Amino acid sequence: MQKFLQTLGSNVAILGTQWGDEGKGKLVDAVSEHFDFICRSTGGANAGHTIYTNGQKFVFNLLPSGLLHESTVGVIGNGTVIDPVSLRAEVAQLEDSGLENVLERVKISLHAHLLFDYHKAIDAELERRKGKDKIGTTCKGIGPCYEDKIARRGIRCEDLLDTDLLKEKITANCKFHSETLNIELNADAEYEKIMSVREEIKPLLCDTRILLLDAMRQNKKVLFEGAQAHHLDIDHGTYPFVTSSNVSAGGICTGLGIPPKRISTLIGITKAYTTRVGSGPFPTELDDAFGDEIREKGGEYGAVTKRPRRCGWFDAVVVRNAVEFNGLDCINLTKLDVLTGVKEIKVATKYLLDGKELRTIPTTRKANLKLEVIYESFPGWEEDLSQTQNFGDLPENAQNYVKALEGFIKCPIKVIGVGMDRNDLIYLT
Ligand code: GDP
Ligand code: IMO
Ligand code: MG
Repeated sequence: MQKFLQTLGSNVAILGTQWGDEGKGKLVDAVSEHFDFICRSTGGANAGHTIYTNGQKFVFNLLPSGLLHESTVGVIGNGTVIDPVSLRAEVAQLEDSGLENVLERVKISLHAHLLFDYHKAIDAELERRKGKDKIGTTCKGIGPCYEDKIARRGIRCEDLLDTDLLKEKITANCKFHSETLNIELNADAEYEKIMSVREEIKPLLCDTRILLLDAMRQNKKVLFEGAQAHHLDIDHGTYPFVTSSNVSAGGICTGLGIPPKRISTLIGITKAYTTRVGSGPFPTELDDAFGDEIREKGGEYGAVTKRPRRCGWFDAVVVRNAVEFNGLDCINLTKLDVLTGVKEIKVATKYLLDGKELRTIPTTRKANLKLEVIYESFPGWEEDLSQTQNFGDLPENAQNYVKALEGFIKCPIKVIGVGMDRNDLIYLT
């Protein structure tokens, strides 16, 4: 790992390349002890980043996954949406698991938006009204909270400092939403709830942009932990089946106030097959018994909602698009071990629409119905990969699979995941 870390520079971004749940949290955790700050720039508690270490499981939602290392500071940037009550509960869970001084190591942007229970109620109600056309959100209130932000009626963390104004804003927003949607919302209960954690959250608030800028000027090391993934990006994903923020590389800069040139290396996280939770196009989906088999072998159930993840073959068009778009420097291929025992492994290498090759996944329903997916097949392997430390010790067919993927996605694979544990990683130099 040391050699790999030396190639990265000071400020490193880790981003999902598919539709989320690629294993971002695991690499963040694995490298975090070498960083001073671990930062979330977008999204909220819709993220579920899982870490297994010493037989213990941790799931991080809004808190950065690097906090397991006690020397790190977790930063939650202005681009995020925060429910302070659920954040407090997340901290309590970590403390119950034996982690110390968590709150003392968290900094929250004064400009991050507050997410209330009414956002969650609206999220669930809008999904219910959409019926079969629902997005399949996590119902964590993410979309409605970002809607308030963009409509310039959002309530920010800095509003916790003026409780009269806070109450006024909560009352106005509950009135607005209950009249617009004809649903019942309880402003008093919302106010009481947020006041129950206000005293604990207040000391964490600061100008995180200045904090990070000064830290970078002093050559401190900063890790940017992406949430969701490129194809869930509000602008560049499979709209409307996306989340409500810019989760690709640009979101780091706007969501933390970081100058783009400060990011020294961008690492993409890519599963050795594909999964997706919720609705939306998924050209390589295996909607059959084999897809079910992969789900069980890979434990593909949502870390946030426990929903079964849809499973399918590796889609090189999708990953190549994320590589190209975000300017990724290298890839951590995860869950290669899950493919052990699969006799013939397929990879989507090309999309054709009306005989023409596409560079990226189409977003319209019509185009997706007509899309022709071209596959290449690779022979599988039977060996257990979990103890493997070196690339050369992987079965030959596994090596060939990795090398072939590297060629299709046009990006070097520098880390390979071969098991769930923090240490089950092969670093290539
Ligand atoms: P994230 O949202 O990108 O952090 O990913 P999730 O935590 O939602 O889902 C990834 C799951 O795969 C987690 O349960 C990880 O522990 C697990 N995982 C990550 N890398 C590997 C790997 O290389 N092999 C195996 N078997 N599991 C892995
Ligand atoms: P991590 O960080 C996988 C998906 C939801 C839904 C769509 C919109 O763990 O990879 P939202 O609640 O954000 O409005 O839902 O986005 N989604 C994710 N899928 N991993 C995630 O995060 C996700 N965050 C949101 O399933 O399809
Ligand atoms: Mg996840």
